[in-house]
Amino acid sequence: MKKSIILIVMLLSVAALLAGAALCQDDLEYLDNEAFEDPRRPAVPFSHDTHNQTAELDDCAQCHHVYDEDGQKIEDESSEDQACADCHGLDDDEQKPGLMKAYHLNCKTCHISSRKGPVACGQCHPK
Ligand code: HEC
Ligand code: HEC
Ligand code: HEC
Ligand code: HEC
Repeated sequence: MKKSIILIVMLLSVAALLAGAALCQDDLEYLDNEAFEDPRRPAVPFSHDTHNQTAELDDCAQCHHVYDEDGQKIEDESSEDQACADCHGLDDDEQKPGLMKAYHLNCKTCHISSRKGPVACGQCHPK
């Protein structure tokens, strides 16, 4: 009897650990390219937390932004619980760049303006 209770408690804590890991961006190492119907390049390596710490980005909304209806960025609001692909379709629409353009604009614009980080195709899409 006691043994089976211990076993259940152990199983529950393992389940809790796994659930916690799934919610945490700590171990995000690659950017998901599944939203692209037929990806032409390998998924981009991106160590989320290490990247953001090294680059000293503490405003999550620099990437996980939220806009109001007039296209004004809402300060102090973040869309970190959503994938880029939840809002950005494969093609541009009147308001938003399509998914590939959204990524390229987001990543490259900052790397170019800060003169740090990769800007060449092969640096972000290693073979
Ligand atoms: C700063 C990093 C960065 C650079 C530089 C970059 N890309 Fe990307 N690219 C991304 C990210 C991030 C994605 C979306 C996530 C993913 O594909 O894993 C993406 C997606 C793509 C996609 C759509 C997905 C696919 O595999 O079909 C293509 C095509 C692509 N890039 C081609 C290029 C080409 C060509 C260049 C050079 C002109 C380039 N990229 C430079 C980061 C970059
Ligand atoms: C909640 C929906 C939403 C999510 C999630 C989202 N975006 Fe956007 N994004 C928008 C809207 C709306 C616009 C158009 C804003 C405007 O009207 O100018 C936009 C515009 C952009 C632009 C062009 C304007 C700019 O800020 O430079 C880029 C680049 C971009 N998004 C990249 C991304 C990336 C990368 C992600 C994921 C990390 C992402 N977006 C997640 C809604 C979203
Ligand atoms: C340099 C841009 C950037 C910054 C800054 C950033 N993120 Fe992200 N984050 C991303 C991208 C890109 C993804 C992958 C989105 C996708 O797959 O659509 C992501 C994914 C996530 C995820 C989902 C993880 C998963 O495993 O799917 C969470 C949670 C998250 N970020 C939280 C945060 C928080 C909290 C902050 C601020 C402390 C932050 N992010 C800052 C770019 C950024
Ligand atoms: C707001 C600015 C900013 C944005 C947005 C940004 N980066 Fe960076 N990134 C940097 C800076 C700054 C560095 C250099 C950090 C250092 O080594 O000092 C860097 C370095 C990198 C590096 C090399 C070091 C490492 O962490 O492996 C990669 C790869 C990279 N970025 C990928 C990306 C991708 C992919 C995106 C888009 C999803 C992105 N970055 C968005 C600022 C940014």
